[in-house]
Amino acid sequence: MHPGIKVFAPASVANIAVGYDILGFALDKPGDEILAKFKDRKGLVIKTITGGKGLPLEVEKNTAGFAAQRFLEHIGEADRGIEFEIRKKMPFGSGLGSSAASAVAGVMAVNELLDCPLEKRDLLPFAVQGEQIADGSYHADNVAPSLIGGMVLIRDNPSLDVHRLNVPKGLYATVVYPKIKILTRDSRAILSDQVLLKDHIKQSGNLAAFMLGLFNSDFALIGRALQDVIIEPQRRKLIPYFDEVQEAALKCGALGCSISGAGPSIFALSANSLIAEEAGNAMKKVFTDRKIRTKLFLSGINQEGAIKC
Ligand code: HSE
Repeated sequence: MHPGIKVFAPASVANIAVGYDILGFALDKPGDEILAKFKDRKGLVIKTITGGKGLPLEVEKNTAGFAAQRFLEHIGEADRGIEFEIRKKMPFGSGLGSSAASAVAGVMAVNELLDCPLEKRDLLPFAVQGEQIADGSYHADNVAPSLIGGMVLIRDNPSLDVHRLNVPKGLYATVVYPKIKILTRDSRAILSDQVLLKDHIKQSGNLAAFMLGLFNSDFALIGRALQDVIIEPQRRKLIPYFDEVQEAALKCGALGCSISGAGPSIFALSANSLIAEEAGNAMKKVFTDRKIRTKLFLSGINQEGAIKC
């Protein structure tokens, strides 16, 4: 009797200030786990979900289930008897890529249980389809880093032209999650579909400079580049005290600070873990002084992505 397997898929920070829908990096933790085992009866079922109050057990409505089922169909195993136990370790609607981590864990779990019929990277399209049922749009900026790890550029979402970027030694992330719920769907709906030419020029310069700063491990350039003039000005109003939190992080010496994915989490990048920790404490204090409960995560850039554990 096969004992089953367990997989872990990490949280991620999407957009990284200058790359809306096209940049993301993976964190060491938190992350979601799935335990998968074979069962006699045909078909995929989700037996339990812990830590994810209100999330659907129905395979076709669950990001992990949907992604896994599309993958099973692709490899001609649509009826395979498999049972999932999903352990959610991060809240939905937090800006930490929660639905992406579940979708990634779903495809990883099936792939590992079936002795890896596909390379990890080839699982990407199924995981992106899984996340799509949560927010209605097809973008891989959370799914890709959660799956393959590292800091990732998606040159083109429809064709999933995905590339790992150089991560300078020492680069460290801070993420503060204030316990407010913002659904990605809603946070996307408020965005204008028009961009002023002057903002496009500024943002393109920052995006290109951020890439170059990563490539050359040039922290000063990374610091000048991490400014979002397009998305952050529209979304900052959804997060109370955003300006104070950002200012607190920058005062501690963080290279940049902006909204993590669709929010409400706020991330900072720093040149070392000490600055990241000081920035995190200062960012957290802004919320706790106002009686808003928060969670603080400190992490290097997770280079592994999803793993069997
Ligand atoms: N790029 C996405 C957004 C990430 O900002 O809406 C969240 O899914």
